[in-house]
Amino acid sequence: MESTRKELIQLLNNVEGHISGQELSGQLGISRTAVWKHMNELKKDGYEIEAVQRKGYKILSSPDKISENTLRWGLDTKWIGHELHHYDQVESTQEIVHQLAKQGKPHGTVVIADEQVKGKGRMSRNWDSPKGKGIWMSVLLRPNLPPVQAPQITLLAATVLARMIAERSALAPQIKWPNDLLINHKKVSGILTEMQAEQDTIQYIVLGMGMNVNQEDREIPADIKYKASSLKIESRQHWNIQQTVQHILRLFEETYERFEAHGFSSIKKDWEHFGYKIGEEVTISTMKKTWQATLVGIEPDGALRAKSKDGEEEKLYSAEIHWGEGGYHA
Ligand code: BTN
Repeated sequence: MESTRKELIQLLNNVEGHISGQELSGQLGISRTAVWKHMNELKKDGYEIEAVQRKGYKILSSPDKISENTLRWGLDTKWIGHELHHYDQVESTQEIVHQLAKQGKPHGTVVIADEQVKGKGRMSRNWDSPKGKGIWMSVLLRPNLPPVQAPQITLLAATVLARMIAERSALAPQIKWPNDLLINHKKVSGILTEMQAEQDTIQYIVLGMGMNVNQEDREIPADIKYKASSLKIESRQHWNIQQTVQHILRLFEETYERFEAHGFSSIKKDWEHFGYKIGEEVTISTMKKTWQATLVGIEPDGALRAKSKDGEEEKLYSAEIHWGEGGYHA
């Protein structure tokens, strides 16, 4: 039943115009009445389907509420999201992907949820993941890389999210080192990368991406309002989650393949293009000292490059950056 529905969506999606009930019944090996029943189920799922006499059926639009079907509909990727699991509610999509990784699921497996009740942020923080308001998604990756290069994947993911926003709106996303996405100085998205490694090889990476999409201003918790926002608040328009997720997956696959073929340099360029306060002066504190420096870019190992007034350049791995006006501390 489930797989017939998937096949039906694929068939509808693969034709330009309409496809007749007879053809669908032939291709799916089910009766025309069964085709008609499936169509009604799709409508209940929120698909808008046009049925024209003597021509057949055509999908006009997919529903806003995501499901495995709606996410697969029109997803023309080669490997990412071919194994895809959608849940209404989970504790954290990260944990589910860790389990799937241990079961041997393939590179590119995606888990996405409408709501997380124990969303995880970086540095053991919570990640607020309210129902239907954002993208709470984790991807299983099995890169053929040494563990030291794992941070490059996080930087890559940040450029993908920034590009997606820039391509779908007039907003100007920025990546705040190491991997927060800001719009108008406020965080709209964060990335959590967890790695399972053995000596010199990565066994797998769980790449978690959280994006505040359709929260209204009043839905952002009061204590973080000064530093957090959503795509809807910043763009003053509703975002279709299904299309936004598909856009991320498409760009991710394309960027990841570019990274595999040509290495980190093109990713570095993208990152620096979107980099927050790159070329600007900030105050930096480490355990030993506090100083002012201009941010100049990133290193292939994910370090931030900062140049002090005397021209000396340092690589920063875990400094506290005082981002100055409009920004907040890392
Ligand atoms: C950060 O602290 O900025 C990273 C936030 C990462 C949140 C995402 S939402 C999907 C995935 N599941 C989780 O529990 N966390 C990540």
